[in-house]
Amino acid sequence: MNSLTLLLLLHLLLPQPSTSEYTVVMPDSTTTTSSSSTLVDGPPRTGFPDGARTDPDEQLAVYEVMEATGNGWARSISDVCSGRWHGIECVPDADDVYHVVSLSFGSLSDDTAFPTCADNGRPYLSQSLLRLPHIRSLFFYRCFTTNPQPIPPFLGKLGPSLRTLVLRENGHVGAIPGELGNLTSLKVMDLHANSLGSSIPSSFSGLTKLELLDLSANRLKGLLPRLDHHFSSLKVLDLNQNLLEGPIPQSIGSCSSLIKVDLSHNRLTGQIPDSVQSLSNLILFDLSQNRLSGPLSLSGLVSLKALVLNGNTFGTSIPENALSGLNNLSTLVISDSGLVGPIPTSLAELPSLRVLHLDRNGLNGSIPRRFGELERLSELRLNDNRLIGPIPFKREMLWRMGRKLRISNNLGLCYDVAVGGGDGVGPSLSSLGVGYCEGRRTMRAPEGVEAKATATGAPQTQHLSSSTDTNGRSGFQSSSCVRLRGSVTHTFVVFLVLLLLKLF
Ligand SMILES: *[C@@H]1O[C@H](CO)[C@@H](O)[C@H](O)[C@H]1NC(C)=O
Ligand SMILES: *[C@@H]1O[C@H](CO)[C@@H](O)[C@H](O)[C@H]1NC(C)=O
Ligand SMILES: *[C@@H]1O[C@H](CO)[C@@H](O)[C@H](O)[C@H]1NC(C)=O
Repeated sequence: MNSLTLLLLLHLLLPQPSTSEYTVVMPDSTTTTSSSSTLVDGPPRTGFPDGARTDPDEQLAVYEVMEATGNGWARSISDVCSGRWHGIECVPDADDVYHVVSLSFGSLSDDTAFPTCADNGRPYLSQSLLRLPHIRSLFFYRCFTTNPQPIPPFLGKLGPSLRTLVLRENGHVGAIPGELGNLTSLKVMDLHANSLGSSIPSSFSGLTKLELLDLSANRLKGLLPRLDHHFSSLKVLDLNQNLLEGPIPQSIGSCSSLIKVDLSHNRLTGQIPDSVQSLSNLILFDLSQNRLSGPLSLSGLVSLKALVLNGNTFGTSIPENALSGLNNLSTLVISDSGLVGPIPTSLAELPSLRVLHLDRNGLNGSIPRRFGELERLSELRLNDNRLIGPIPFKREMLWRMGRKLRISNNLGLCYDVAVGGGDGVGPSLSSLGVGYCEGRRTMRAPEGVEAKATATGAPQTQHLSSSTDTNGRSGFQSSSCVRLRGSVTHTFVVFLVLLLLKLF
């Protein structure tokens, strides 16, 4: 398994809340194309032919690289390409001389144990790497955390064969060296989760072959790089969790290969540029936790499966057709973003929608009736808005969704028995933090207390919605009090006590 495959696996395995299923799979080109014409490429050969040997200078260089990472044992291997370990790959030339094309370090899992970097010594990146002229892939994972050091600028001299540079969770400090912009054949650059504190070097505009750029979880400052036609091969742009500021450049629209863009958890301002509408291959778009403002119009992103925009300051309404035609959109998260006005009915027409979070905004009006028809919806959060009126859900949907339906803390939502198709939803309503619509409850609650409550004209929801949605339990309590007074039956009390015992 080579390191690009591994890298993609890693992207798969890493926890990415609410977006974990949108892993980008890229064709693994490192083994199928070669820029070093001298090497004989093809399917990996089994065995090491008699008379074959590793290039002697590369062998020495490998010893030194291994020694610098605390893997001095490698010196006992007389030919590094024949006595190979997981983490070194070699390719022969026409004379059966083997050349090192890939070195990998770090324990990803029990199955993929590359040599780890010694944590008692002072592991570092040896300059001997420069004596591996055919190297295509360098993969260092959690290697230098015990000896934090800058990324050495000499890596920029690694020559035109390098396609993959992964320095992931390595404890690197300081600036990203501008010299890395000299690695013009690079397809994968992954510097995820270090402590890099510079801006993104402008020299990166020379990385015209890049397919994956992951600089996430660092402390990068300054503006986003210009993302013009130079990056026409870029498929994955992940700059999340940095301190990047300023606008998203219009030029992003010319990166037409983009499949995944994650700029979340930065300090980006301004509007989402109109040009993103041309990113018709984009599957995942995460701009959450920034300071972006409205308007919202993204109907050109026809391949989109997940749109995550929560934690911004849009301050606008969602235009009726903002997302129309996004037939593959299954996750839409715009919580806590200053949205106002009504919920567009058109959202109910998104055929693939499974997760919809619009909670903690200023949305008003009622929940569109057609939301009741969203059969494949598995998670809906509309809590903490200013919504009123009957909820459009059948009671079966309430039962089915359970805690995945959150609608508490609104101005006046209620359950209409006629809309819902019947009664018997008391416990569901309690945990939802809403009550029956006015006038309906009296059918189930013949006692004076209940009649009086209804007669005051105050929607019961106001009484109940004081409970917060994250602890459906307090909503449960206040609501159950009402029910207790209303229709006391012995069995119900017993049931309730049992339930409470289970809850606490
Ligand atoms: C590499 O990049 C640096 C800074 O970006 C530049 O000054 C230098 O000339 C480049 N070196 C080579 C060998 O291209
Ligand atoms: C939607 O998804 C299906 C299946 O995943 C895919 O075949 C189709 O091309 C996608 N549509 C668009 C517009 O991307
Ligand atoms: C919703 O709020 C907007 C302003 O935010 C207001 O103009 C509109 O009248 C409200 N609509 C309803 C139905 O309350």
